[in-house]
Amino acid sequence: MPNSQGITNTQNIDNLEKILVLDFGGQYNQLIARRVREQHVYAEIKPYDKVTLEQVKEYKGVIFTGGPNSVYDESSPHYDPAILNIGVPILGICYGDQLMAYMAQGEISSAEDSSEYGKTNVYFENDLLFEGLPSESVCWMSHNDFISAPPKGFKTIAHTDKCPCAAMADESRRLYGVQFHPEVTHTVYGKQILENFVFKVCKCKGDWKIENFVENSIEKYKEYLAGKKVLLALSGGVDSSVAAVMLHKAIGNDLTCVFVDHGLLRKNEGDFVEQTFRRQFGMNMIRVNAEDRFLSKLKGVTEPEQKRKIIGEEFIRVFEDEAKKLGKINVLVQGTIYPDVIESGKGDSAVIKSHHNVGGLPDVISFDEIVEPLRELFKDEVRRAGEQLGIPHELVWRQPFPGPGLAVRVIGEITKEKLELLRDADAIFREEVANAGLEKMTNQYFAVLTGLRSVGVMGDARTYGYTIALRAVTTDDFMTAEWTRLPYEVLERASSRITNEVAGVSRVVYDITSKPPATVEWE
Ligand code: XMP
Repeated sequence: MPNSQGITNTQNIDNLEKILVLDFGGQYNQLIARRVREQHVYAEIKPYDKVTLEQVKEYKGVIFTGGPNSVYDESSPHYDPAILNIGVPILGICYGDQLMAYMAQGEISSAEDSSEYGKTNVYFENDLLFEGLPSESVCWMSHNDFISAPPKGFKTIAHTDKCPCAAMADESRRLYGVQFHPEVTHTVYGKQILENFVFKVCKCKGDWKIENFVENSIEKYKEYLAGKKVLLALSGGVDSSVAAVMLHKAIGNDLTCVFVDHGLLRKNEGDFVEQTFRRQFGMNMIRVNAEDRFLSKLKGVTEPEQKRKIIGEEFIRVFEDEAKKLGKINVLVQGTIYPDVIESGKGDSAVIKSHHNVGGLPDVISFDEIVEPLRELFKDEVRRAGEQLGIPHELVWRQPFPGPGLAVRVIGEITKEKLELLRDADAIFREEVANAGLEKMTNQYFAVLTGLRSVGVMGDARTYGYTIALRAVTTDDFMTAEWTRLPYEVLERASSRITNEVAGVSRVVYDITSKPPATVEWE
């Protein structure tokens, strides 16, 4: 069985210098690690209760994340205070800052009128952590508690109008804490602060390079997978495409890719995927046209999470059916990336949407092990690996497309007719954005078929057609997003073409909600 065989992690990251992001349940933990990796230093996230003090000593530095708790709560996450004295530099962020103060016997207070949320002016002192910064700048705050007296040995190195200690330092032990969030882009000099911590405080050199990762991986898999029969589920998305090309370079036709077309793809997408991988890369690829199977399972289903569940499960069934025809498989490849494997230190975070491309592991295919070649990479790193592998720019920089596809963009029940209508409207919108040369202005943009019908007039006749919503967001992490200010002319052309060219649409609206409070997808 796959799980008893375990997952093979054949990457060689052991010799890299590493920063540990110690997770106390904050919402921006992945961002912290990404920001560090952007400096070419490998960072990994571990839950606070899964790392021993001995293990901490192997890192060049530690970052304590934020978290929703208050340090005096009995149930709040804590760590052995001895960590402050083992000689490894630490940067505490928000809750991590307060926790460090608490561990070192400083004073944390809670006063309603001292809480800060959002963009806040911070005044910086001269300090290694703030080298290269002006004396005041905007930072992102999100806290109720604050440090009212820094611990002995620490000095205050920043403050705000409300918060007497917005940052503190014990330079002799290389311990730093900031009440604000340097990892979010709203903190204007956040990148510089993290860079200072990583290079000036932790003295990292910056040895994390994607080029080396790709080359090493190909060499390694060439040897490791030699003579094995390897199967991969190709979705046409960036992750599975990069995994496929990487392994194809390593083992050629010993790799078989199965592309399940669930009928919920965008216009002409199935053909594009087939064209690219079969024709252009010459891969051994099987395309399964399974639209009818998926649509019959989705008949009458309106609830978004149920749609996701059905699609995930059916995907596995279809994949299994194909795999069985191939006989014994030695290795199953998954395009899992780092955010999918990170364990949360909080353990009970609310599930807003169950984001995963496939719903789990096939349990009736016989295979010996799973290989996840992108397990260590964040999305932006996967894209850079894709470029390194020579995958066309258009594919590597594709906007994200959810695994359940258009199923979560047809609000309510899905039918073939609604899907056709949405496909046409979506293609027009994307074409107009492309015609205006604005594909880089927005990170994800698409049409939604709302369940709402409204009255319109065409010629002299009354119509009663669907409302199409257009959505475009600007974001660099998809955890938060702004609605993109697309020019009116582009919106107007899209609207006029959609109502003229797509029968059954009588109204087009533009979604001007950011995330939060809305999510990117409507379902
Ligand atoms: P939300 O809607 O949660 O979306 O703000 C954030 C990003 O995730 C994508 N998304 C999904 N991706 N399976 C996926 O593979 C899903 O079920 C799913 N739901 C949302 C969404 O397109 C956006 O990029």
